[in-house]
Amino acid sequence: MLICNVVGARPNFIKMAPVVLELKRLGFDQLLVHTGQHYDKYMSEVFFSDLSMPRPDIHLEIGSASHAKQTASIMSAFEDVCLQRRPDLIIVAGDVNSTLAVALVAAKLLIPLAHVEAGLRSFDKTMPEEVNRIVTDHVSDLLFATEMSAINNLCHEGISDSQVFFVGNCMVDSLVKHVEKAIVQSPWLQFGKREKAYALLTLHRPSNVDNEEILASLIETMNSVSEDVPILFPAHPRTRERLKRLKTKSMNRIELIDPQPYLTFLGLMARAKCVLTDSGGIQEETTALGVPCLTLREATERPSTVEEGSNRLVGTDRAKVFDAIADVLNDRWVLGKVPQLWDGQAANRIAKVLANWWGARSSR
Ligand code: UD1
Repeated sequence: MLICNVVGARPNFIKMAPVVLELKRLGFDQLLVHTGQHYDKYMSEVFFSDLSMPRPDIHLEIGSASHAKQTASIMSAFEDVCLQRRPDLIIVAGDVNSTLAVALVAAKLLIPLAHVEAGLRSFDKTMPEEVNRIVTDHVSDLLFATEMSAINNLCHEGISDSQVFFVGNCMVDSLVKHVEKAIVQSPWLQFGKREKAYALLTLHRPSNVDNEEILASLIETMNSVSEDVPILFPAHPRTRERLKRLKTKSMNRIELIDPQPYLTFLGLMARAKCVLTDSGGIQEETTALGVPCLTLREATERPSTVEEGSNRLVGTDRAKVFDAIADVLNDRWVLGKVPQLWDGQAANRIAKVLANWWGARSSR
């Protein structure tokens, strides 16, 4: 069986590394394709070395464009790869445009498709990722879920439960494997910070950064927060671009830094007093680390992080952010527990499902 694993953007690398490494350990034939959706050194290359991931066999070098152009370019280039290499199974992860594009190609060429992190729903179709998640799930043959809400969502959407597997969280596999090494490197010292005495901020959702008024108001709120706790802000390239256009340039005690490599960022998260973010994956990583997470969005597709873990949805409302920060600084935050099967063994479970699936298919 030839398995084709496809990655394209930062969160894909973290989720797929454990799968690729486990399948390699078990001796499966694999082809690793990078679409090139993320291409800057600190958005892509450093993740391969930090995660000890093999280099891609094929790089499509698609780069940035509008959603339609980017998705179409990936589809066109990836179709050629499939026609030449004829994989028996394609694996994609998460909800980025690369995931959607590859899923559509697999469906059209009738190549079985496995989706890692299936079934998550924010129920907000203005998020590009929500559309990507829904379409990918509905053309997938094997769906690997990280939490019970995902299984319920897939069941409500009529997907047969024989295709859905509750395997745990591959992002947490990477975290479990690397967190000690990340902390030993004490990355906070590079930025002159003390453990548990800084907040970490990330912002990149179009809904938060593409509208100047919303971004300006968020920065103003963060400026006020930084009076109580200094903020480290590794800014995504799109955010940095938008920040340049803002009229107010004041950043109080917010330190704007480049996007960080996986290990550095993991170490910074692990020893932060709290994390403020609009990312999906970071909500999960902070829950796994037991670090308070203030999510600057109105909804989450990862409800277990709120119901069980250390995450709270604060949206972009100033008062809610301040209340939450007061709880963090006065140690009133409930850190919760780590959700079921977020134990570092998800890739192992996925490999077992794939071996059984292939066994059943070949004996037909
Ligand atoms: C993408 C995903 C998002 C994910 C995020 C993680 C989609 C629709 N969105 O968002 O779900 O949370 O990745 O980071 O797939 N850019 C660079 N260098 C790069 C990559 C991007 O400068 O290596 C800039 C470009 O200006 C580009 C912009 O960032 O136009 C947005 O990149 P894109 O990949 O389209 O979306 P992200 O915001 O990164």
